[in-house]
Amino acid sequence: MHTPEILPSILACDLARLADEVARLGPTVRTLHYDVMDGRYVPNISFGQPVLRSLRSAWDGDLDVHLMIVDPSRYASQFAQAGATSVAFHPEVEDDPSALVRELRAAGVRVGVGVRPEHTLDSVEHLLPEIDVLLLMTVNPGFAGQAFLTDVLPKITEAYERRAADGLGFRIQVDGGVTADTIGPAAAAGADWFVAGTSVFAAPDPAAASEALLQLAGESLRSA
Ligand code: DX5
Ligand code: ZN
Repeated sequence: MHTPEILPSILACDLARLADEVARLGPTVRTLHYDVMDGRYVPNISFGQPVLRSLRSAWDGDLDVHLMIVDPSRYASQFAQAGATSVAFHPEVEDDPSALVRELRAAGVRVGVGVRPEHTLDSVEHLLPEIDVLLLMTVNPGFAGQAFLTDVLPKITEAYERRAADGLGFRIQVDGGVTADTIGPAAAAGADWFVAGTSVFAAPDPAAASEALLQLAGESLRSA
């Protein structure tokens, strides 16, 4: 079983003050979530490797990069070199997902694959033995601040049960709409890595908000 962790998504912070924003997170937070969007895989454009490199000098902890881009193998290793500690991509827009998993692992990062809300686990089944993180989208990818899609909860449980049945070790990450109201159900369903953008950075005290979310996750965490 994995220790629960909250990953604030910097997509929801004041990017003009990025270093100050992440400095407000406090000791509960060990990993930041970094959403890369290309305007093709999703209808939005965010930030790329230069901002990640700058963030690397302002943040000592881990950096979890979420690539919402087509042809992720064109750029994925560059994010590893720019300071990512984990990189997740969406395999349905990659020609050879297994090769990209191996390439990223060789670059020294942990590897995740993402599943959109409308897709089943069948789309990633063959990759499960090779990955460190299964990223289950709980909103339609593209924007922070959307509502958590409760329809995804059974898929979280299916991932949890399949991981146990196959003796695998990947983390189950949920991404989108994670708040004080939704983190308990997500944890109870089987998630252990919780991305939280708006509910952390729009809070008056992001450190306290992260701590409160972690506490709620711990109280509901599935253990069997
Ligand atoms: C959505 C991104 C999420 C987003 C989460 O496409 O992948 O990581 O930043 O933001 P909130 O927590 O506000 O939904
Ligand atoms: Zn994300």
